[in-house]
Amino acid sequence: MTDPAGRIAGAGMGEARFGALWPGAAESLAAVGVEEETDLIGLDAADLLRRLAGADGRPMPPEAEARLAALIARVGAKVPGPVRIDGPRVRLRPWRSADVRAIGEGINGDPVAMRHFVAPLTGAENEAWCLRMRRGIEERGWGFWVVEVPGVAEAAGVVGLLPISFESWFTPAVEIGWRIRNDLQRRGYAGEAARLALDHGFGLLGLERVVAFTAPENTASWTLMERLGMRRVGDFEHPRVPEGHRLRTQLLYEVRRGEWLSRKG
Ligand SMILES: CC(C)(COP(=O)(O)OP(=O)(O)OC[C@H]1O[C@@H](n2cnc3c(N)ncnc32)[C@H](O)[C@@H]1OP(=O)(O)O)[C@@H](O)C(=O)NCCC(=O)NCCS
Repeated sequence: MTDPAGRIAGAGMGEARFGALWPGAAESLAAVGVEEETDLIGLDAADLLRRLAGADGRPMPPEAEARLAALIARVGAKVPGPVRIDGPRVRLRPWRSADVRAIGEGINGDPVAMRHFVAPLTGAENEAWCLRMRRGIEERGWGFWVVEVPGVAEAAGVVGLLPISFESWFTPAVEIGWRIRNDLQRRGYAGEAARLALDHGFGLLGLERVVAFTAPENTASWTLMERLGMRRVGDFEHPRVPEGHRLRTQLLYEVRRGEWLSRKG
């Protein structure tokens, strides 16, 4: 069920995609420090075009701004933050120092919670992962937030939006992801947190689409994708999972802004 058109469109990634913006775009963008799609996060297309015009005098087509804006909408905006988002029961909030241990013991280091990952994280891996999530939120204002359930748990899990850092036929893209402590699962917390994150992503962040992926064996995760109204659009070989591993082939789901907003009516 892989998408052959998507494979072709995504082939070659940075170089090929920038090259399609206008002739010489890849070189011009590199000259102002944009070498990967994720370097576009938080940039404004009109500002970037002004910088490009100053960096070299190559002619750009009239559609240049619209094309750049469309690409930026795939990787996300930068917003003032870090923000806290409150729902009826759960809160998405920025990281605190104490979360590293709580998330390490409750989720990342737990073999049951991590049974659909290649391996639970070691203490050092957990620290590095949490730091990366924390910095991401500090730098761009959004990311994988800590899920707090006031009165129940200060750190029930981690849910949020993240620019995908590997290449595949469907990237560049922002993914939605979720991890909830075993003892707090099946109470609707991930679903509520995910809806808050998607409202934020399609609202303030101006994203055009959000994807999610998981292995076929992870019924909880793909059930949640379907409950959120995400559509299965294909599958892919996850480049960070070793070849031949049972988790290597992953299901890919997506939801687009128009679908999300129209369903909310
Ligand atoms: C996936 C995960 C985040 C879901 O969290 P959760 O808080 O239990 O999810 P919710 O209670 O909001 O449930 C969301 C929907 O999924 C369904 N669901 C949850 N767990 C399920 C399971 N084990 N089997 C079938 N359906 C399940 C719920 O019934 C609910 O659907 P409903 O609204 O029709 O009832 C959680 O199972 C988890 O953290 N797993 C371990 C980490 C992981 O694998 N993360 C995903 C990596 S891709």
